[in-house]
Amino acid sequence: MKKLLLLAGIAALIYACGGGTQQNDPASDDQTGAASTTPAPADNPDGVGKFKDVQVPEKLDAALAQKGESVYDMKCSSCHKLSDEKLVGPGWKDVTKRNTAAWIMNFVTNVDEMLNTDPKAQAQLEICLVRMPNQNLSDEDARNVYEFMRKNDGVQ
Ligand code: HEC
Repeated sequence: MKKLLLLAGIAALIYACGGGTQQNDPASDDQTGAASTTPAPADNPDGVGKFKDVQVPEKLDAALAQKGESVYDMKCSSCHKLSDEKLVGPGWKDVTKRNTAAWIMNFVTNVDEMLNTDPKAQAQLEICLVRMPNQNLSDEDARNVYEFMRKNDGVQ
């Protein structure tokens, strides 16, 4: 019986999370309808948002990474570990290898639209069952956090 309840609970969660993934969008009220003019082709590696094809130098920018680390400490560490272990969200190990720079920067600055339209973001949502809340990152902080992720992935 307990198991059944648990299952029912999970089903409810999936349903709740999946609400956004059902395409009754794009005129959903809390999102700027105007921003959804670009449809997301299923295979767009950069996702949806303002960032496209972001070029990153090979070498780590330690100053940016350090700023990114403080953003992580304040706004991300409650849900993301730096290892590959899942907390509320996926662990960040290899996150920069799974996704392009632009995808990550779009995800963290445009999370609602990404979760509503991007197949990779939706796949994570199905695993985590929690919609990542919008963290209101500036473009600059998105870049800083990305640099910190690169550092975490061993870039020197
Ligand atoms: C309340 C919990 C929570 C907080 C806080 C949070 N996230 Fe997330 N994050 C998630 C969840 C859950 C997912 C998986 C996608 C989904 O289900 O929404 C995720 C996914 C991600 C992904 C995609 C990971 C992958 O492997 O594809 C990135 C990148 C990310 N978050 C960055 C951030 C950054 C940067 C911050 C801080 C500024 C942050 N997150 C804060 C819960 C959180």
